[in-house]
Amino acid sequence: MTEQPIVAASLAGKVALITGGASGIGAGIGRVLAAAGARVAIGDLDGEAAEAVAGGLPGAAAHLGVRLDVTDRGAVDDGVTRIEQQLGPVDVLVNNAGISSVAPFLDISDRDWDRLMGVNLRGVLVVTQRVLPSMLQRRSGRIINISSMAGKEGLPNLAHYCATKFGVIGLTQSLAKEVAAQNVTVNAVCPGVVRTPLWDDPDTGILRQLDGEKGWQAFLAGIPLGRPQTAEDIGYACTYLASDLAANITGEALNVSGGQQMH
Ligand SMILES: NC(=O)c1ccc[n+]([C@@H]2O[C@H](COP(=O)([O-])OP(=O)(O)OC[C@H]3O[C@@H](n4cnc5c(N)ncnc54)[C@H](O)[C@@H]3O)[C@@H](O)[C@H]2O)c1
Repeated sequence: MTEQPIVAASLAGKVALITGGASGIGAGIGRVLAAAGARVAIGDLDGEAAEAVAGGLPGAAAHLGVRLDVTDRGAVDDGVTRIEQQLGPVDVLVNNAGISSVAPFLDISDRDWDRLMGVNLRGVLVVTQRVLPSMLQRRSGRIINISSMAGKEGLPNLAHYCATKFGVIGLTQSLAKEVAAQNVTVNAVCPGVVRTPLWDDPDTGILRQLDGEKGWQAFLAGIPLGRPQTAEDIGYACTYLASDLAANITGEALNVSGGQQMH
């Protein structure tokens, strides 16, 4: 007898942790994963915002917001322990927390370099090292790292940001090979442009330093499908990679960029 193919990406019964989930893309990923049935933990530097976002998530499952700084091993341990106690062991980890900065190469300071490396790259190491052992023990798990188009092609004035996002893809591929035998998949998702505080923040936002709205329009003009991405667009890709439908996919870096990036 031939088995019926499953065509819906259901995450019913799964626990998902999204770092940096209190804003922008992470909050959108949370909405889609929750709608697909997951119990969602929003982990964020901003604990109050994390609780507020978790409280507004759809679906019948329980959700949780926790304060969690991805650069701080103690805080990550405390946060993940709370999630395990209240929701259960993490089945899906989305390493989404990230920060930006724009500066000409010669002006990139050690402080800024270390800050971006700390959150965007070491943060992935720290949270994954806390969550992975339980996945390996259970021989089941999905790790999804949010890289960027800037993880596949260098951009001017973003050398430090690009270095972190290229690094995320390297880490993804290495870990994917390391843990495949234990049925844990590790993939990256590379968003194109999603209008979030990462663009609009008055101090660090990319727009402020890329000629404001003119810079934004220039980005839009390069998108074959004619629009920027929504946070939900990124959430749909994550839901697919987290589901049984993507059981045979690992080490990939999936563009969600309306065709702006094709390799
Ligand atoms: N917005 C885009 O166009 C775009 C494009 C490509 C990739 N990305 C990536 O998507 C991810 C999310 O970006 P966004 O645009 O939603 O940004 P955002 O600024 O809206 O959200 C980032 C979230 O991360 C949290 N955060 C920052 N430092 C943290 C830390 N140390 N520990 C825990 N949480 C922390 C912030 O509090 C915030 O809630 C980032 O990794 C970013 O690099 C964004």
